[in-house]
Amino acid sequence: MSFIKHSRSEYIETITISRPDKLNALSPELLQELTDVFRSLLEQPERPRCAILTGEGKAFVAGADIAAMANLLPAEARRFAELGHRLGSMFEEAPFPIIAAVNGFALGGGCELALACDFIFAADSAKFGQPEVKLGVIPGFGGTQRLARRVGVAKARELVFTGEVIAAAEALRLGLVNAVFPGAELMAQSEATAKKICAMGPLAVAAAKRVLLRGEDQSLPAANELEATAFSALFSSEDQREGMKAFIEKRSATFKGS
Ligand code: COA
Repeated sequence: MSFIKHSRSEYIETITISRPDKLNALSPELLQELTDVFRSLLEQPERPRCAILTGEGKAFVAGADIAAMANLLPAEARRFAELGHRLGSMFEEAPFPIIAAVNGFALGGGCELALACDFIFAADSAKFGQPEVKLGVIPGFGGTQRLARRVGVAKARELVFTGEVIAAAEALRLGLVNAVFPGAELMAQSEATAKKICAMGPLAVAAAKRVLLRGEDQSLPAANELEATAFSALFSSEDQREGMKAFIEKRSATFKGS
């Protein structure tokens, strides 16, 4: 049984989590399939320049699969958490941005999956939350850490301790999501932003993503050192020469990613 649909349009890969009868709940099988699909994208010679992750039906992802978790022993629960962590790290380490197009519920593991993407666009009907404490557990796919980094530790504490579910407008106010659109426009708006990213120098976008990620946990001087290294390395790329030449010649640049 397949839970993941994906398709390419030019340089944009759209990945759709498709288990709508269970609100796209993340079973171990679904998580493994998503990991395999994503790994295959990384291994392709023609890699995407941007990906969009969304869900089929009324949910983005309503959480890790509670039925599949109910009888786990601690060691099994740890393996499940590691599967989620590995996927989150793959998203963060991917050399192209991933936009989470959150079309509905993004609860628990769904919110965590969206947080592991580069940024989130949401439908106005979307709902976010980390309700794990209601189930007697805590977020296990990076939520305690990424939510705190995104919205600040005090707000993350409030959301994680109460399990409160918030609407898209509140998520926007908190900076959890970058923009909110009417549901019917969410994919078109996500694609329009992905298209803008795809027109940029792919090596530059990948370097920016890497430096933003690595710098987050470093001191400012150490992070600036990373930036200087990545900035200078780009001056050995064809894309840098093309980008600057195109500006001087008053034309659009054509980047090859080399
Ligand atoms: N794990 C497993 N199954 C889930 C699920 C999850 N996280 N979320 C939803 N489902 C299943 C339901 O069990 C139901 O299956 P069924 O039709 O076989 O009974 C189906 O998806 C539809 O969900 P339902 O609860 O009927 O939809 P709703 O619109 O009434 O409510 C939610 C939507 C999101 C409020 C509700 O499904 C919910 O609270 N889900 C769990 C959220 C959660 O705690 N996530 C964190 C998990 S760590």
